[in-house]
Amino acid sequence: MTWKEKMNARAAAVEAALERLIPLPEGYNRPVYEAMRYSCLGGGKRLRGVLTLATAKMGGLDMKQAEPFAAAVEMIHAYSLIHDDLPAMDNDDLRRGKPTCHLAFDEATAILAGDGLLNLAFETILEHSALSAETTLAAMRLLAKCSGCRGMIGGQTADMQAEKVQADAALLDYIHTHKTGDMIEAAAGMGVLISGKTEYMEPVATYARCVGLAFQIVDDILDVVGDSSELGKPAGSDAKNHKSTYVSLYGMEQAKERVEHLTESAQEAVRAFGEEGAFLAELANGLALRTK
Ligand code: IPE
Ligand code: IPE
Ligand code: MG
Ligand code: MG
Ligand code: MG
Repeated sequence: MTWKEKMNARAAAVEAALERLIPLPEGYNRPVYEAMRYSCLGGGKRLRGVLTLATAKMGGLDMKQAEPFAAAVEMIHAYSLIHDDLPAMDNDDLRRGKPTCHLAFDEATAILAGDGLLNLAFETILEHSALSAETTLAAMRLLAKCSGCRGMIGGQTADMQAEKVQADAALLDYIHTHKTGDMIEAAAGMGVLISGKTEYMEPVATYARCVGLAFQIVDDILDVVGDSSELGKPAGSDAKNHKSTYVSLYGMEQAKERVEHLTESAQEAVRAFGEEGAFLAELANGLALRTK
């Protein structure tokens, strides 16, 4: 199998787990489940879920056992996107090729669907982890930290502050590292923790930090040069919101060079770790070259 075939097969496994784990809408709370399923299923690259599966397998765990953790990280990611698109934040109308959650439903339902996915992520791990309490808690602790105010929410807070005034290098680094990098670090780190192969923790964290930053720089680049129909979200959103981005601070050429450099460092960190290390290295390269 090529890395791309592996990626597709694993993304499909994450999708199937999400399909199983997000309840079907029924009863008085039906709209919130409808909106959660609308935004979380049937779209997205599943990068974060696949990272959890891959690093778990790299540490010797059966990927099936990693599925609740992979689904959880994708639920939190989907919630972050629902809230990111709200009128009070980036005010975007397209996500994963469909109208954003607040347009397909309404703002109240979109806020609640995001809240619902956040809670369901932790409930999913608690209900479905087949691993020891200690191992399960270690993974949950990492996920909670990386998605919280020291992590993704912190980055999103700084991102909103850096609208209209150009962030300097230190602030931009904070924004990108936390709003995007931390969830990628949580995804990859959880796989290592549940596999028990703790000696992989440091190299995998290095990999994830480099991939995470590169991923957001590419996201900034695609916002300028990408195509809305291919991206499945509006190009030009950053300019519309006067966001501070890698392109606005450093220019296109330097942004691209930084992606190349970070990708090499990411590959260096994991290349030696067998078949899954090779998969992670090729994945990093694929992400650097992506057009959506
Ligand atoms: C979009 O993430 C938000 C960022 C952190 C840049 P993805 O590009 O991974 O979005 P999906 O999951 O594939 O839709
Ligand atoms: C959002 O960054 C990152 C999170 C949702 C945490 P962006 O605002 O650049 O993501 P897109 O471009 O809307 O996907
Ligand atoms: Mg945003
Ligand atoms: Mg956005
Ligand atoms: Mg963006």
